[in-house]
Amino acid sequence: MERTHIEADKTIAKRANLQSYENTKELFTWDHALQELSQAPSGKWNAAYECIDRHVAEGYGDKKALLFTDGDHDETFTFAEVKHITDGYAHVLKESGVKVGDRVFIFLPKSPACYFTILAAIKAGAIAGPLFEAFMEDAVRERMQDCEAQYLITDENLVKRVPFDDVPSLLKTWDIEEFDREAQQYEDADSPIVWLDEQDGMLIHYTSGSTGKPKGVLHAQKVLPHHLITGKYVLDVHDDDVYWCTSHPGWVTGSVYGVFAPWLNRATVVIHGGRFDAKEWYSLIERFGVTIWYSAPTAFRMLMSEGDLYKDFNLTSLRHLLSVGEPLNPEVIYWAKDVFNARIHDTWWMTETGGHLIVNFPSALIKPGSMGRAFPGVTVGILDENNEPLPANEVGKLAVKAPWPGLMKEIWKNKEKFDSYFTDNGWYLSGDTARIDEDGYVFFEGRDDDLIKTAGEQVGPFEVESKLIEHPAVAEAGVIGKPDELRGHIIKAFITLRHGYSDYDGLTEEIRQFVKTKLAAHAAPREIEIVEELPKTKISGKILRRLLKQQEIEKMQKEVASEWQKKNA
Ligand code: WTA
Repeated sequence: MERTHIEADKTIAKRANLQSYENTKELFTWDHALQELSQAPSGKWNAAYECIDRHVAEGYGDKKALLFTDGDHDETFTFAEVKHITDGYAHVLKESGVKVGDRVFIFLPKSPACYFTILAAIKAGAIAGPLFEAFMEDAVRERMQDCEAQYLITDENLVKRVPFDDVPSLLKTWDIEEFDREAQQYEDADSPIVWLDEQDGMLIHYTSGSTGKPKGVLHAQKVLPHHLITGKYVLDVHDDDVYWCTSHPGWVTGSVYGVFAPWLNRATVVIHGGRFDAKEWYSLIERFGVTIWYSAPTAFRMLMSEGDLYKDFNLTSLRHLLSVGEPLNPEVIYWAKDVFNARIHDTWWMTETGGHLIVNFPSALIKPGSMGRAFPGVTVGILDENNEPLPANEVGKLAVKAPWPGLMKEIWKNKEKFDSYFTDNGWYLSGDTARIDEDGYVFFEGRDDDLIKTAGEQVGPFEVESKLIEHPAVAEAGVIGKPDELRGHIIKAFITLRHGYSDYDGLTEEIRQFVKTKLAAHAAPREIEIVEELPKTKISGKILRRLLKQQEIEKMQKEVASEWQKKNA
């Protein structure tokens, strides 16, 4: 049953043992969160200890921590087993010289080993740098070079995409199987946990910008309370829950809400290896009895397009669904209500914010089309061009009063970039545009810049353009996100050809493959259009992506209109 947000807040307040619902803003105070983190009162933390070892110490060693399937075979691990494995891995890292603050990169497919090595790196006091498994050589190079990665754990396939010569900081690389063998010798060793200060680094994720290279968003140990509290009250993890987040830990959703938030709350975590497959996904929910499911609008839309397939499965275990990363269409919410008998709760946050900031609490009234309300204790606002707050329902820049527990510590060695997120009057600028209604519900409008979200994955147009012009036939390139029913946006590139080149059969496909194999499959343009020239600003000669996009949208609208005319003629 849907309740008003005040009634829903009351439910949360009760679960949190707060005096009154008005105190729900206390959820976000350190004191509240720290009560649950066992080592925190000592002032020393370790996220991996809090995720795994603490539960073993508290008597939950036999509880299932992890259920894995890749469609062909399943694996199960208890908390005690995960502790044992990650202890051994952390010993290998420490013995190899890993020190507090070192960058340990993890380049592995979505698998138990990927999750375990992230935790092990953190156990050893290092900063974990998980890389998305679809990254190709250039994407790997830029990230590892930027923060001078010293260690890498990968496998026999992905290692081929590591440009060793270009990352001179790299001291050691392990193949996961060799790494696993090395860990065997630490069978009976003591705990390897390295106790850390709240400002010590924990996790680095690269996010794309509309200009320049991807930036390294560094989170410190102090992000933990944010993960703990939103995991408990937004993901709604209870002790018997089986929780599945579909994102790869190379993306922030896959690390924060795939690894940390659920395990801080002692959930049984599900991993699905491999690509999207509607049948496999439904069958996984049935077989593992998934109760909480966190995914993205594109995935829900892909399932929606499979029609009645869901009827072949028993999906009644599901009780709480969540979505993130791109606008959640109201029709998807209605579809889910029919198919799963459960609502989809939208959540809004960013790599930089460290955790959810705008949410729909379980059972609270959902306004389809809205992303939800500010998490209690968080102040969101809509600002005008002078960074002054706007009244209800006016569209402007979506901003958050800084700081909050999960806010990034820094952009790796780029203070200028970090500072550019904040206004003089204390707001963090998200780069999104939105409006907030009189009940505090936030409605997403778009991006203030040219960043593209395709199938929930963030792509910087600049990265794609840079790659395109490395192709010998391409002179200039302008890249936009073209609206797409299934994927939210697809990447479309407009290119001009170099002198001496003319269009030939297969050229655009060749260019597409070039981006795909060098950068990443999800960053390769689905459409490439060869044009005579690209629109540019008069003064600086910058390519006007916005104009390209506007023209593309107008073209799409015309196509729809003419089709409608044909049908109704
Ligand atoms: C977008 C992902 C609409 C937004 C956790 C933001 C959303 C960017 C939503 C951050 C939502 C995130 N509805 N758009 N519920 N949630 N976004 O860093 O543009 O990969 O700025 O973090 O995703 O993307 P990132």
